[in-house]
Amino acid sequence: GSSIAAGTADRDFVVVANRLPVDRVVRPDGEVEWRRSPGGLVTALEPIMQSRDGAWIGWSGDVDHAPEPFESDGMLLHAVPLSSKEVARYYEGFSNATLWPLYHDAVAPPEFHRSWWDTYVTVNRRFAEAAAAVAGQNAVVWIQDYQLQLVPAMLRAQRPDLRIGFFLHIPFPPTELFMQLPWRTRIVEGLLGADLIGFQLPGGAANFLRLARQLCGLQPHGRTVEVTDADGEPRVVRAEAFPISIDTKGMSDLSASPEVVQRAKELYSELGEPKHVLLGVDRLDYTKGISTRLQAYRELLEDSSITVPDTVLIQVATPSRERVEHYKALRNRIELQVGRINGDFGTLGHPAVQYLHQSYGRDELCALYRVADVMLVTPLRDGMNLVAKEYVAARTDHGGALVLSEFTGAAAELRQAYQVNPHDITHLKETIVAALNQDPAEGARRMRAMRRHVTSHDVNHWAASFLDSLRKTNA
Ligand code: ADP
Ligand code: G6P
Repeated sequence: GSSIAAGTADRDFVVVANRLPVDRVVRPDGEVEWRRSPGGLVTALEPIMQSRDGAWIGWSGDVDHAPEPFESDGMLLHAVPLSSKEVARYYEGFSNATLWPLYHDAVAPPEFHRSWWDTYVTVNRRFAEAAAAVAGQNAVVWIQDYQLQLVPAMLRAQRPDLRIGFFLHIPFPPTELFMQLPWRTRIVEGLLGADLIGFQLPGGAANFLRLARQLCGLQPHGRTVEVTDADGEPRVVRAEAFPISIDTKGMSDLSASPEVVQRAKELYSELGEPKHVLLGVDRLDYTKGISTRLQAYRELLEDSSITVPDTVLIQVATPSRERVEHYKALRNRIELQVGRINGDFGTLGHPAVQYLHQSYGRDELCALYRVADVMLVTPLRDGMNLVAKEYVAARTDHGGALVLSEFTGAAAELRQAYQVNPHDITHLKETIVAALNQDPAEGARRMRAMRRHVTSHDVNHWAASFLDSLRKTNA
């Protein structure tokens, strides 16, 4: 990566994220392939970046390998290298076994290790240096997510001319939980390097401002605090909610295309034309509530509230963070549950659960959304959940029903979904049954209202609101 150090400091708009939008994969035969990176961050930012000619700084997903900067799809991609030790300590360790569980209500116990923290600092500094080398004078730099919370202050120290925004894609936890973090003040100070800090929900912004007071002695005024920079100058930092979204029109158009409509018909007939199709689409992550969902489904089969082959559940679970201990344990638990449900309730040629531990293309996912009578989105905690919004966008026919956990960011917007507390399995079962048996006119009314919302509040609206607010802060 010497070309990053050499720098071409000429970009007006720079996104900094742990991952590039594409993942470098070396196939068993040695061939190199670039695939779309997993997760909601890339889904949301990709359409934004394609319409601006900016740079995207991130990791290629591969160990010790950073190709030279290259153009792709209307953006310049700058890879930041990570060694295998850094992947283990910064990415799998501090990002995904400390911050991820802590910020998701500690649904799994977070681990605290000083060596992980040290590597988090080292890697954040590398990202800050890369951004400093790529950004032009007075450029806008938009830093993304929990893996890079120290970058705003590190970057400001090097480049006070820049306008710096930060957006957290995951929940920002209640102060009581955040206070467990041994490096809590350093994280808050890191974020305060930004002009604008964006959260999914107003509660996250409020939690952050409370911590700025408790840990840094700053006095919040509304949604802002005033900090003093190294040069002695005062600066305003704003903390505000900007609920993220999807390319709604893109998804709707794709879903209404003759190819996807045809593919949905094929899928339905391949499934044996069951009366009811239920669907789950998630990264295989313990925050997603997949296990609870399977338990509810199992009990519905036990009660004979539903039967095979009239009903099928399709669960698509994208492989994710497979070397992290909690993810390994989760996969084993879920595959055991699926195996048992199929063993107990399946019939020849008709499994009760179609489980797919695979990644799919946009078209195929979209066809699945069209086929699903009931979409199950049941996370125990989720910053937003874009799958819920994609399902709504895909239902151009106003059909289908969305069962949605109240612990997702999306629940604040998709009020007409069948909302549930996923910890309450009895209520989850009742809600699934209600969704399966909804009156079609009532279902269409709900779907229309949700479609109106995701149409006016799409990802362009999200980016424009954030960037407007960023432009106005310290203007
Ligand atoms: P997260 O960011 O935690 O993974 P989101 O629901 O916000 O959760 O975003 C997930 C994104 O990844 C969505 O755009 C969804 O379509 C995509 N996705 C999830 N599972 C799969 C899969 N099996 N194949 C392809 N894309 C998937
Ligand atoms: C969530 C996070 C993203 C992350 C994605 C996929 O959406 O908010 O920052 O990129 O999950 O996870 P991964 O660890 O594979 O990047």
